[in-house]
Parts: sequence; C-alpha cells; structure tokens
Amino acid sequence: MRAEDNITLTRTDPGTPMGALFRRYWLPALASGELPEPDGAPLRLPLLGERLVAFRDSAGHVGIVEEACPHRQASLYFGRCEDGGIRCAYHGWQFDRHGRCLDIPSEPADSGFAEQVRIRAYPTLERGGVVWVYMGDPAKQPAPPELEWALLPDSHLFVSRRLQECNYLQVMEGGLDSSHQSWLHRWTLQDDPVLGTGAGGRSRIVEIIGADPNPRYEVAPTDAGLLLGARRRAGPDEYYWRITQFLLPCFNLVAPTGDLSLNAQAWVPADDENCWSWAVNYHVDRPLTAQERDAMARGAGLHVEFVPGSRQGTGHRGNDYGRDRALQVARKSFSGVPGIAMQDTAVQESQGRIADRTRERLVSSDNGIIAARRLLLDAARANQAGGAVPGLDPASHRCRAASVIVPQERLADVPREALAPVVPVPCWQVVG
Ligand code: FES
Ligand SMILES: [Fe+2]
Repeated sequence: MRAEDNITLTRTDPGTPMGALFRRYWLPALASGELPEPDGAPLRLPLLGERLVAFRDSAGHVGIVEEACPHRQASLYFGRCEDGGIRCAYHGWQFDRHGRCLDIPSEPADSGFAEQVRIRAYPTLERGGVVWVYMGDPAKQPAPPELEWALLPDSHLFVSRRLQECNYLQVMEGGLDSSHQSWLHRWTLQDDPVLGTGAGGRSRIVEIIGADPNPRYEVAPTDAGLLLGARRRAGPDEYYWRITQFLLPCFNLVAPTGDLSLNAQAWVPADDENCWSWAVNYHVDRPLTAQERDAMARGAGLHVEFVPGSRQGTGHRGNDYGRDRALQVARKSFSGVPGIAMQDTAVQESQGRIADRTRERLVSSDNGIIAARRLLLDAARANQAGGAVPGLDPASHRCRAASVIVPQERLADVPREALAPVVPVPCWQVVG
C-alpha cells in the first residue's frame, strides 16, 4: 500500500477525508446503560479525534457536547447535571444538550451574554441499547440506522463497548478476516458458548469445516458495502457458504453458527490511535437467556470481562492480555491469551498504534480486507468530490449475514433472500 493511502484510510480527525466520511453516518457512541439515570455522572467520550462529554439530562435525553467549557476550557466531565443541562464545576456556567448556554451565574441575568455563548453539540438517538450520534453537517443528516439489531427490544440484545489502543482500521480488518479463525482462535472457538461450533445440532457444519480447511474467499458489492463469503464443499453439488456483511463505514454482521445468537460488530475511532470496539449479540425472535447474558458479561464471544470502572478488559497491553503459556502448551489457546476478544486485541494492538501497511505482504485470503480498504478509499474520495456514498439509505441496512448450504458456486449468485432480515417493528426514538 502507498503511504499516502494508509494515511487517508487511518486518519479521522476533523478536516480529514476519512473523518468527513465517518461524519456522514450515525455512529454508536455509548451503550444506553452507561448513562443509567437522568442527571447522573457525565462521561468522557473521545470520538473521531474530538474531545466530547456525554450526559443524560433531567428529562432523560442524552447530550453529547464538546468537553472544554468555553469560559476558560475546564473539562465539563467534572460538571454537575442538573436543571436541564450540565453545569461546569469551575464557575458554574451551564449548557443544555443542544449546546445552548443556559446560565452564567456571574453575569447579571439581563445582560444577554449567555445567549451569545454556545458549545458544539451533536444530535443523538437511542435504539438497540445504544446511544447513536451524528457528527456531520446538519443539512446532510441521514435517517436513523435500521440495522436489524438496532430495531430490537433491549431484552433481545447484549451490547458492549471497549477501548482498543490502536487505530480503528486494524481492528476492523481483524473483524473482516475470516482466515484467522483457524489459527488465532483455534481451540478457544470450539469451546466458546457464544461463537462455538461444537454443539450437537451443528455437527454437519462441523464436519464440513473439518473436511475442508482451505475455504475459497470471495467478495461481492452490496448497496451498503460488501458481502464477504467463505465457500467450502458440502457435497457433490452443494457448497457451504459463510457470508459476512460489511456496511459502511464501520459495521459488520457475522455469519451465524447454528441457533446460537447472532453477532454484530462496529468500530468507531476514538482518535487515530484508539478505537471503540463494539460487540452485539442478539436473537431476532426471542430474548437472550440469563445464561447467555452471564457468559457474555464474563467475556465470551466478542465481549470482554471489564475491569470495574474501566472500558478495557481484564487483559490489556500492560499484562500481555493475560497470556498464559500453560494454556498455549496445553492446546487450550493457540496464543496463550484467553478469550476470543482478548486474542483479537493482543494481535491487533501488536501491529502498532497505526499499522504500517507499506510493509505488508498480502495473499489471496486477504481479498476481503483489500476490498474493504478500496471501498473506504473510494467512498472517502467520492464524498470529498460531493458524490454519493453507499450505506446512507436505511433500506440498505436491512440485510443479514448467513450460513447457508446452496448449489451456487459463486458468491454473487447466492440468492439474496438468504440474506434478508426479519425486521421487527421499529422501537426507536429520535432525540434531536
Ligand atoms: S471554566 Fe467553566 S465556568 Fe469557568
Ligand atoms: Fe478474531
């Protein structure tokens, strides 16, 4: 890769081409449960290189505003949420979720000065257990997202957000790279209660995967992004396709395994060297069981067990992600790192804060990653030139990843009905 393409792909601060592309979409900002009550404690929330704070106001609506108080730049993170806004702890200036200044206590009430002061504030909405934010041009605000999981009631979902200490793109590439499952996640994957392939009803799939360890990878375009397919022979005239959906700018729907809950991911840059890594598990037709939730909270599937009060897992850079050489020797974990999400974090952060893609040697199993990079670059350039970009129309979100046994040999020929979602009644609320 050319150095300038790597820079374009990985930089998302204000004023950058990729930053401008991300700012065209609604993005997951935080889990609704992180702000559990009106007028509770605010959160620091770096997003796309901007220092922001999130708070839930007295009426229960979430505000996402710039962190620095316009008086003398103290952090509103130390502020108090009260009387319909957030009040700076330093001298008491108060702001509402739209960024309006409600009160400057040191000024005479009739001075009119407060009306002239504003802070940057972004529109939010809550759906699918997530507070979404739109950080772009107000005139171009798209309709709310309609990813299948985002339309489900909270009972059907488990959502987590964790910090990874590296650029978003290498985390995203890890999510789109099916070929590492057989290596990095070997042994762990089979045993995992959220993603595992070993249970009885799925024995045919296990047999197929076991019989063909070298799947063929194919990519096909969609209205929102890409289909990423891995094909294995399932019989004389049929193939087992595992088909993942990538939706711009940063969403992934993972191919399902038997009747286990579905998996989705999203990757939102905190800044160029840190990424919010989202994992979502859901059933479209029933609530998650207490057992499923408990396993996810303890780090199964694509989740981690959190250090209390932190957005990082119990494994992290400082403790080698909990790597245990005994697990590696005993063939319990290929790397010795326990848990699928921690294994991903270990290798992704080991690529450097921003991976140097000029030094890579790519092979055919990297086709999906190559296609995703090209799509992101093309979309960023089209956006810069004022052209259309994929994935803004919510109708394009109405798709599903699939594991299917079909006669089609080419990914583009697999019937799209297999990838259609069961979309439930929308249960969202726009908070402008
Ligand atoms: S710095 Fe915020 S009120 Fe003075
Ligand atoms: Fe992985």
